[in-house]
Amino acid sequence: MNISNSIYSGVVGWSRLQEVILEYSQSGIYILVDENTVGLCLPVLKEKCNGLENAMIIEIQSTESNKTIASVEKVWQQLVVGNAVRNSLMICLGGGLITDIGGFAAATFKRGINFIHIPTTLLAMVDAALGGKTGVNLNSIKNQIGVFSLPKAVFIFDEFLKTLPDRQKLSGYAEMLKHAMIHSENLFDKFIVLNSHEKVCNEVNILESAAVKMEIVNSDFTETGIRKALNFGHTIGHAIESYSQKYDTDPLLHGEAIAIGLICESFISMRMFGMDKNDLKRLANLVSWHFPHYRFNSRPGNELLALMCHDKKNASTSKLNFSLIRKIGDPVYDQYPGEKLILESLHFYINLEVGFFV
Ligand SMILES: NC(=O)c1ccc[n+]([C@@H]2O[C@H](COP(=O)([O-])OP(=O)(O)OC[C@H]3O[C@@H](n4cnc5c(N)ncnc54)[C@H](O)[C@@H]3O)[C@@H](O)[C@H]2O)c1
Ligand SMILES: [Zn+2]
Repeated sequence: MNISNSIYSGVVGWSRLQEVILEYSQSGIYILVDENTVGLCLPVLKEKCNGLENAMIIEIQSTESNKTIASVEKVWQQLVVGNAVRNSLMICLGGGLITDIGGFAAATFKRGINFIHIPTTLLAMVDAALGGKTGVNLNSIKNQIGVFSLPKAVFIFDEFLKTLPDRQKLSGYAEMLKHAMIHSENLFDKFIVLNSHEKVCNEVNILESAAVKMEIVNSDFTETGIRKALNFGHTIGHAIESYSQKYDTDPLLHGEAIAIGLICESFISMRMFGMDKNDLKRLANLVSWHFPHYRFNSRPGNELLALMCHDKKNASTSKLNFSLIRKIGDPVYDQYPGEKLILESLHFYINLEVGFFV
């Protein structure tokens, strides 16, 4: 299966998108937006493309707590009201929340209608809109319900990023760093040299990062092997994300937590496989430069371990499964570093507060 040729961007992308819209304008177009993309992105889309005058706009709230089957039902109900048929088209215009919910709603309505993604956050451009995972949370457990279903196409236009808040850009930047680290020294070096999330926010770099994910997804669509490499930084990152959601009034965004996870899991990679200490230093300094240092309550280790075990369906600490790297560009999955090393890696991050790693 080769799905990377369904990603479009730039001038060619806009003209392909126009063709798709005209192809479906008779059978009904439904545009899923959230409370921000309705005002910031929909006007751009309508200005660029003809044939959307009669499209039905479906709006949902883009909060993680809203990523539920109830939101999907709201979308299904709107599709019924708008007489959507098998050959209709849903356009998911938004971040990962919209592409996850919209993709799932479209994939299941009448056993599946056509959908395309127009991601409007950096994170969705390089990650969420790609690879065909769709779904919602259940009882606040992330992505418990869902299906693998590929959009007909993904359209990546960096102009949507003009209105994206800086913190959201940083969140996507962390996933781009992850892609670089599992892919190649060249891509990682490029990030180090650019040393700026603003400078990587253009279509060339975004497409390069998207291609890393697509290459992996193409060889392991259902995640039985190498696709697990995309979880680098995520075992510890997810636990930190949940921890922050529990304690902070303004919790860390996903990518902000993943940036910390990347540092900790690189530390583990250094200890287990001899990943170059200098690469850990370069990563730690880059992250420290761009992301505020996160302060845990005192001694968070046991709580974070418990969150990791919960995330991995109540595994014991010795069974906590990690995706790591032997070195930059050489991922390895199904690794079990154990409690002591996990705690050491957290201490390593916590101690970074006192200054850059020299
Ligand atoms: N399916 C996958 O493979 C996959 C991969 C990674 C993440 N995800 C999912 O993606 C979701 C997170 O996605 P996200 O980070 O894009 O968050 P999001 O969709 O919640 O968007 C973040 C915020 O940015 C706003 N926004 C979106 N585009 C904007 C723009 N152009 N200008 C201004 N504001 C804009 C949104 O309204 C929202 O408030 C999570 O639910 C996560 O589980 C899925
Ligand atoms: Zn992620």
